Amino acid sequence: MSLLTRPNELSLEKIIPLSTSDTLRNNFMVLDAQLPANIRFGLLLEIMDTLAADTARMYVNQFYKDAVVVTAAIDTIIVRSPADISKDLIFKSRMNYVGKTSIEIGIRIEQSNPTTHIATCYFTLVARTGPRDSRVSVELPTLEYIDDMEKRRYQKAIERKEHYLVQRNLESQPPSLEEYRLLEGLHKTQEESDFSGLLASKLSLTSWERTFPVYKNPNQTIFGGYLARRSYELSTMCAELIATKRPIIAAVNRMNFLNPVKIGDKLLFKSNIVYTHKSFICIETTISRMGRYEKKISNLTDSCLFTFVNVDEKLKPHPVETIYPITYFEDQKYLEARRSLTSIFTDIKGGLLKESELAHFD
Ligand SMILES: CC(C)(COP(=O)(O)OP(=O)(O)OC[C@H]1O[C@@H](n2cnc3c(N)ncnc32)[C@H](O)[C@@H]1OP(=O)(O)O)[C@@H](O)C(=O)NCCC(=O)NCCS
Repeated sequence: MSLLTRPNELSLEKIIPLSTSDTLRNNFMVLDAQLPANIRFGLLLEIMDTLAADTARMYVNQFYKDAVVVTAAIDTIIVRSPADISKDLIFKSRMNYVGKTSIEIGIRIEQSNPTTHIATCYFTLVARTGPRDSRVSVELPTLEYIDDMEKRRYQKAIERKEHYLVQRNLESQPPSLEEYRLLEGLHKTQEESDFSGLLASKLSLTSWERTFPVYKNPNQTIFGGYLARRSYELSTMCAELIATKRPIIAAVNRMNFLNPVKIGDKLLFKSNIVYTHKSFICIETTISRMGRYEKKISNLTDSCLFTFVNVDEKLKPHPVETIYPITYFEDQKYLEARRSLTSIFTDIKGGLLKESELAHFD
């Protein structure tokens, strides 16, 4: 049998038949009501992670029969249209790029009648071999990018890698004069005798949980998608601390998975509201882990930022209160989220982060 070596051959499709299954609709809905955007986005993250790994394995296992693939990162996801719980969800994956040991898989989520683009997401996975506790990354043969679309997707994958590195660097820069003045204003307001604003330090939620074998992937570790879902779910509850209506997801910035999680590990999820702007609520969530018999916590992911929009039942955005950072750390998180949101605004023209919302970004 000939090897699959072109991106066009390394593609999978998964359909969740919501239109014909009451049970599935019940599993996927957030609230038992007729509402737009009433779909559990966390479950979509799980499905995408599994599909990305299945697609990557199609390639990797041709060369290394026993190799596993692990999720290293999930790139920015922008929700383009609200999903409809009464229509099927169609997930289409494709391998865009193979590096030395890493692979980028793009996944597009659509609904039909009419065709609606819900979101696109890019996963980076790494091929690894060896016993679970001492795995090493393995070198992969390069893909053959032959037609224009394959070449274009390859080029875009390289640009995304570069963009992420530039963005990561920008986010850690000291404040500009304009940002300094913004923070100064927020701190001065807190000194007023009648100050009654919302303090960022009060707007957080934490949750501990144990990992069980039911969440394990073929690598005998815990699915990245499961962690992404749990982070998202805590973030939504955190957004509700400030939302006046219903917070729905507009964008997820990148998630990097630094260390594997073993079955039986204890996980600590922490969500904080770090920034608000008009109807947007930015939540930073971190995950840490502690081995079953360990006493020390170690970082599992970089922080992950979720941007929610506070909307009514017709998806009309409603403003939320300004939040006030106090400490240096909270100032830093405030600016990081503001910069990340500005960058997403700059990159996109539509979706739930609509232009009308951008008009007065200050
Ligand atoms: C992903 C992981 C194997 C990377 O380990 P590492 O020691 O950083 O590996 P390397 O530096 O050799 O990087 C390997 C490749 O992955 C890429 N990579 C690693 N981390 C990355 C990230 N966060 N984003 C994008 N690419 C990444 C590197 O660029 C490199 O690519 P290349 O070989 O194609 O040039 C390691 O961080 C890990 O095990 N993470 C947990 C994975 C996991 O269990 N995920 C499921 C959820 S917990």
